[in-house]
Amino acid sequence: MFMSSKVSVVTDSCRRCGRCAQVCPAAVFTYERGMVPVVRRAGNCIQCGHCVDVCEADALRHSAFGPGQIHLVRKELIPSPESLMELMRSRRSNRTITDKPIPDRAMADITEAAYTAPTSENSRKVLVTVLEGPDIQAVEDTTMKFFLRLAGVLMSRPVRPLTKLLLRDLYNEAAELYRFERKWKAGLRPCTCNARALMVFSAPKKYDFGWQDCNMAYQNASLMAEAHGVSQIYMGLVQMAFRFISQRRTEQLLHLPSGHKPFALMALGMPAFYYPKYSDKPNPHYNEKTKLAADASDS
Ligand SMILES: Cc1cc2nc3c(=O)[nH]c(=O)nc-3n(C[C@H](O)[C@H](O)[C@H](O)COP(=O)(O)O)c2cc1C
Repeated sequence: MFMSSKVSVVTDSCRRCGRCAQVCPAAVFTYERGMVPVVRRAGNCIQCGHCVDVCEADALRHSAFGPGQIHLVRKELIPSPESLMELMRSRRSNRTITDKPIPDRAMADITEAAYTAPTSENSRKVLVTVLEGPDIQAVEDTTMKFFLRLAGVLMSRPVRPLTKLLLRDLYNEAAELYRFERKWKAGLRPCTCNARALMVFSAPKKYDFGWQDCNMAYQNASLMAEAHGVSQIYMGLVQMAFRFISQRRTEQLLHLPSGHKPFALMALGMPAFYYPKYSDKPNPHYNEKTKLAADASDS
């Protein structure tokens, strides 16, 4: 995917610490203690930028990272564990999305946050596509029609008892689906939570880490949305429906390049109000004992 890299070490500046060789995940360098690292296998480079970022002497030259593309970390801006935890504890899938536009600055940051996420072997195959207006309506209609068709079969008179017996969860959710149908017919968009923007995280269909990379990107983007006060909701229903929709139609509806598959979708919009409180999430895998141990290690 990447252009080949030109990597070199400026001998006069190099402090011979060998950190570039130590952090390189692709074994591009060889290093002997006290010597300037030697670029041996530039062809292995995955353009992760570790060598450039770790060098305190600015002695690394890399064709993928020109002037203006390397930045000093502003440590004072990094959130404290406490502020990050507060953000994550208070994050909600706030579905009270209004017609208010999402500020451009927020959309730009949410998109950038998605692209800063790590990807397997730095393959950077994730594409973020933003849908608006009629494109969201088309996604809503496609999703709703898919589930209504499915329910039409599963809840039909002869099949219904089997559905109740074998697909209990689906059977129980039918009532919710018919509530959605009423809202949809009234002109609302229940499946896409009346989103103002729909962010699609896609990758090539045959890529092995599509699920992982796209959902890593999703999580970064969702926290950034939260930091901006923008509502974000994971679109599991939409994604489920699109698993059964043809590749060609998926590409058309979601404006994806050929061969791309949506591995995560996010509804975005400005909420009608914010929640003043958060409650502890009941979690069977994170019990009082674990919490007490964490608190004890703090003190
Ligand atoms: C994989 C996944 C799929 C989800 N799908 C939907 C969805 O289709 N529609 C929706 O309104 N919420 C969806 N959600 C949001 C969850 O319902 C929500 O995260 C959960 O109820 C907890 O609420 P919170 O996000 O406010 O903490 C989904 C969440 C996840 C993680």
